[in-house]
Amino acid sequence: MPRDSKVNHHAGTERARPILHQHAREIQPYGKIAKLSIALDESVCAESAENLNQVLADTITLRDLYKKHHWQVVGHTFYQLHLLFDKHYEEQNELVDSIAERIQSLGAISLAMAADVAETTIIPRPPRGREEVPVQISRLLEVHEIVLKEARTMAKQAAESGDDGTNDLLVSDIIRTNELQVWFISEHLVNVPLVQADAPPAEKESPKSKSASAR
Ligand SMILES: [Fe+2]
Repeated sequence: MPRDSKVNHHAGTERARPILHQHAREIQPYGKIAKLSIALDESVCAESAENLNQVLADTITLRDLYKKHHWQVVGHTFYQLHLLFDKHYEEQNELVDSIAERIQSLGAISLAMAADVAETTIIPRPPRGREEVPVQISRLLEVHEIVLKEARTMAKQAAESGDDGTNDLLVSDIIRTNELQVWFISEHLVNVPLVQADAPPAEKESPKSKSASAR
């Protein structure tokens, strides 16, 4: 029999050992407010949080649409759009964090997981496959407009309820970022010549040359 066969190898390590496989009921259900001392009524916090969770789900979806297009873009503008789509993805990602943390600051719970986002977003689901650039950009512009429309309505509502913090986030961050991104991608849908400029408009035809050409 080996000398140390009865030695407890865990002795003295109890406090350093991780306690695994722990499960319990959640401490705050989704949709309930754990009131914080921010001088706002619970009903105002609940209303703002509900609105912000909607704009959060839609912003996460818009963010991910930019990454989809970053990966799937094709054509002679590939490089610039590949970079631009990723820049907008990063900016939307910052918005996602600001919105989620605003919701938590209101004492509410922010949506987080893909399945919950998919159930909540009002943005139409794009196909899994690849689309050409004008279709990608049109799709993005339609989504930006959905977000802008809801953000403006929610900003007004937040201002009327006295929730200035939420109003500021919606106006200064969400609305202004989305408007700027709309400008940057819209310009890619303007049909201007790439190499040779359009010929200047022809001079007005004189009645004489008109009748000559009619013959
Ligand atoms: Fe990338």
